[in-house]
Amino acid sequence: MSAVGIVAAAGSGLRLGADRPKALVPLGGRPLVVWAVATLLDGGVDEVVVAVPPAEREAFATVLRGTATLVDGGDTRTASVRAALDASDPGAAAVLVHDAARPLTPPGVVVRVLEALAAGAPAVVPVLPVVDTTVVVDADGVVTAAPDRATLRRVQTPQGFSRVVLAEAYRALPLGEELTDDAAVVRALGVPVRTVAGDERAAKVTVAHDLALAELQVQR
Ligand code: CTP
Ligand code: MG
Repeated sequence: MSAVGIVAAAGSGLRLGADRPKALVPLGGRPLVVWAVATLLDGGVDEVVVAVPPAEREAFATVLRGTATLVDGGDTRTASVRAALDASDPGAAAVLVHDAARPLTPPGVVVRVLEALAAGAPAVVPVLPVVDTTVVVDADGVVTAAPDRATLRRVQTPQGFSRVVLAEAYRALPLGEELTDDAAVVRALGVPVRTVAGDERAAKVTVAHDLALAELQVQR
């Protein structure tokens, strides 16, 4: 099935605190965004659209060297994905939305997401089990509930969708409304979201410690 990859790379990376936008920070000598685009292409998407910080377009064009189409991202991840979706091939059957901040995601995750879409799922997310006891707290930090861990999952990217379904879900989402991921956007429409196995290597680089761990992985 024809698939477009979208990479959300327009964030500034405040929590990482680097001297440049997070997606341009090098890991093993390659900017995070270059890793993310390579994962999608290696896993089988046909083309990639990257949402970038408008002021950094040239720097992204330089490092991506024609491997992806660039669009100006927005103030939120939701706005950035919306912009990339609008610029993506409307004829593609599927769209996979990935974070530049998950540079070491193995292409096998992309393959699993594409397989589930090809089997007819309208929406697919890679997930991992939760290993710690996880609790709900109130405003004072007092534990109010402890959900059954066996029913909990940690959600990663790339998240895959029928393109028609994702475009419809973004059309239905009021402009300016922000959701944490794209599965939440389609769930707001009542679309069922299937899960496939994620991968610990798809961990998100958020703070400096995460980048240090990723560096250790690429040096091995
Ligand atoms: N993202 C985006 N557009 C935004 C904000 C975030 O495309 N306006 C992207 C980021 O580039 C990143 C992904 O969404 O690849 C996940 O976001 P996050 O890890 O929060 O990255 P940043 O927003 O850059 O980091 P921070 O929140 O620490 O500033
Ligand atoms: Mg952010």
